[in-house]
Amino acid sequence: MTITEDVIYVGVNDHDIDLFEGQYIVPNGMAYNSYLIKDEKTAVFDTVDARFGGEWLKNIDAALAGGRPDYLIVQHMEPDHSANIKLFLESYPEASVIANDKTFTMIKNFYGLDLEARKISVRDGETFSLGKHELTFIFAPMVHWPEVMVTYDSRDKILFSADGFGKFGANDIEDPEGWDCEARRYYFGIVGKYGAQVQALLKKAAALEIRTICPLHGPVLAEDLGHYLGKYDIWSSYAVEDEGVFIAYTSVYGHTKAAAELLAEKLEAKGCPRVAIADLARDDWAECVEDAFRHSKLVLATTTYNAEIFPFMRQFIDHLTERGFRGRTVGLIENGSWAPAAAKQMREKFTKSKDISWLETAVTIKSAMTPENVAQLDAMADELCR
Ligand code: FEO
Repeated sequence: MTITEDVIYVGVNDHDIDLFEGQYIVPNGMAYNSYLIKDEKTAVFDTVDARFGGEWLKNIDAALAGGRPDYLIVQHMEPDHSANIKLFLESYPEASVIANDKTFTMIKNFYGLDLEARKISVRDGETFSLGKHELTFIFAPMVHWPEVMVTYDSRDKILFSADGFGKFGANDIEDPEGWDCEARRYYFGIVGKYGAQVQALLKKAAALEIRTICPLHGPVLAEDLGHYLGKYDIWSSYAVEDEGVFIAYTSVYGHTKAAAELLAEKLEAKGCPRVAIADLARDDWAECVEDAFRHSKLVLATTTYNAEIFPFMRQFIDHLTERGFRGRTVGLIENGSWAPAAAKQMREKFTKSKDISWLETAVTIKSAMTPENVAQLDAMADELCR
């Protein structure tokens, strides 16, 4: 795939992976993108996952029609992008690696490679000429590891954005939901904790004229860039994307589920703009995390279990708080047949979360819903719709 006259896609699609980064389901697979700039000197951006080294080298050879690359630019060291550095160096013994000092330390730590004469170390803001293409390296620490840098090609106005603007899904499957859904799940799952660092990168990017974004996962973005930049601005500033309520529940014998579903019905009947509901034991947890960050309001409904919060809920709240969940309205529904304790403990788990507004109405069910509980859910729905 040609991106511009000189820039060629040489990445691969992965349809065999079961869990990305060891924890995310990816029903549509995954893409490990890699790019090549042909100029007086030829540079390759990042390698691919370990299982695709042979396919990747074939793509490079096909793109160069017998030519050989001069440089490998390593923007990010997570092994989904760095696993084939050694293969590259063995295949092209005359080539050098362009990266920063943190990256070279990681190359040694991960792969035991001391590159010595074959390394070109760059600083933040440094430029490097391939001939017609002048590249500027922009450090983007913690988007999503500390060594990350992105690269701007001022000739073709391309931002090579590392993990930024990536999404789940292979590039040879058209995502029926478009870019936003799997890009949002990817963002909050993987980069969500580092909103401040993403904001810093967006500020640097705002000073550049960008025509194309080339991320390390997902499609190349060449049109309507304002849409993608706008989404990243919302997500990284922890702003509300959609007014509405996300109800996340766990349920052992169906009584807590019944309360969660009744609340959803009441919200819909009262005209709430968006209502989403999920079973934390059965639905994808990363989808639930993105829904919690997406909406303005969150209701958590769970049982007391071993005198604590039911495990799936406990883990879900950890997923939210460790990613910097903040600035939302939260309501609690607890169920406890003899000693309900989940609501208090759930609230305590948010003590470090900024700007949480708690609903006045709390609901305690003692086994199955009573008429009083139904009235409480009605009051909760009113409060959420206010
Ligand atoms: Fe796609 Fe952080 O690796």
